Amino acid sequence: MANDWATFGADLHLELSGKGLRSGLMDALREAVRSGRLAAGVRLPSSRSLAADLGVARNTVADAYAELVAEGWLTARQGSGTRVALRSAPRGPARPGRSTAASPSTAGKPTHNLRPGTPDLASFPRAEWLKASRKALMAAPHEAFGYGDPRGRIELRTVLAEYLARARGVYATPERIVVCSGFVHGLMLVGQVLRARGVREVAVESYGLDIHWDLLARAGLRTPALPLDERGTRTEELGTGELGAVGAVLMTPAHQFPLGGALLPDRRAAAVDWARAAGGFILEDDYDGEFRYDRQPVGALQGLDPERVVYLGTASKSLAPGLRLAWMVLPEHLVDEVAAAKGAVDWMSSATDQLTFAEFLASGAYDRHVRAMRLRYRRRRDQLVAAVAARSPATRISGIAAGLHAVLELPAGTEASVTRAAAFQGLALVGVNRFRHPTAPPSRDALVVGYATPSDSAWSGALDALMRALPEP
Ligand SMILES: Cc1ncc(COP(=O)(O)O)c(C=O)c1O
Repeated sequence: MANDWATFGADLHLELSGKGLRSGLMDALREAVRSGRLAAGVRLPSSRSLAADLGVARNTVADAYAELVAEGWLTARQGSGTRVALRSAPRGPARPGRSTAASPSTAGKPTHNLRPGTPDLASFPRAEWLKASRKALMAAPHEAFGYGDPRGRIELRTVLAEYLARARGVYATPERIVVCSGFVHGLMLVGQVLRARGVREVAVESYGLDIHWDLLARAGLRTPALPLDERGTRTEELGTGELGAVGAVLMTPAHQFPLGGALLPDRRAAAVDWARAAGGFILEDDYDGEFRYDRQPVGALQGLDPERVVYLGTASKSLAPGLRLAWMVLPEHLVDEVAAAKGAVDWMSSATDQLTFAEFLASGAYDRHVRAMRLRYRRRRDQLVAAVAARSPATRISGIAAGLHAVLELPAGTEASVTRAAAFQGLALVGVNRFRHPTAPPSRDALVVGYATPSDSAWSGALDALMRALPEP
């Protein structure tokens, strides 16, 4: 074994010379696992001794280990050290860039997962979905199995229009709806259309998902960030200064991701005023609008001006991201262009899935499911708040009125060490700075706790692990 470590150290040293120390070390470790030189289950040297071998700071090794634990290459257990994961090692190339809520590693699992972005997958309503699927399939006309309207099945667009008006205050007609494969797909299509119309910049929030910014960038759009203050996103700055040339703004008005606030009425109005005056568009990401706990849902911004707001909804939080079902409600004058963009990419989303979802909505199964999940998540949220109050009364929790995650403020400068320590305990956690726009100044240290992510049976263990991971009061 000692010999192995010697070889390993030499190999690492080569890799370490080219890049940042930590990422070079991570690449070297991934490569050693991928090539089989480090076999499943093998115990790695302690971060102290590897750091000494390599002549780097211990934290560099500890950080690299923690990230690889979070990615699933390694496992860490108290008492048995850090080992190569048994069944997990991803065999493909390393995933580039930062991991995000929307692209959690599918490789190997930590014991507990409180990353945001995923609903409780164990609660997917399999029996009800199957029932809807059978019924929809039996009732479908032959023509449903052919090439249809790129906007999607009329059965689905009809029930969605009714549902969105009723539940989210969206001004919707079947003609304005385009069904797509996830919010990201809708954003990609709208980005293409805006770019083709001459838009060069789309403003985004100071905190959000880098995959969305990257997607817009790939469509040729710059994504400057709107500033933030204690009342939320400063939409009144649209059209001024650095944001003078933006043609659209991407926002999460009902429940800011990840900070968790609702956009205040004056700032909703300011965004709409800007869009009207500038001929701009608001891209409204209503990713978790169904989950509001303390009062009536905050209605969609789109209702304020359906000709200037593109509303985007998804089944990824309310049902499951694996369905890849989402929808856009478009200003009338954008419908044809977006439908054409969709037709050019994939023609249309799966007709059988759309018909199943239409039946699921029409039968009331969707409302029942959302109500049941709302109760379940609300209970978890209450347990989280109570546990934090008991363990660490000074810790401020925000963003709890809605959605599937909460923001736990941390003492300044501790975010990285808390998430790292949690990873060593087998708890996957994400800090808020993961979601900060590259140009936005740091404003806080906090954890974004996805309390919907575990199954019911895993929840209390995850909550206990989180309490252990919080800094001592
Ligand atoms: C802020 C935000 N928007 C949208 C989505 C939904 O994306 P999709 O419908 O592509 O699964 C997510 C999922 O993580 C999200 O966090």
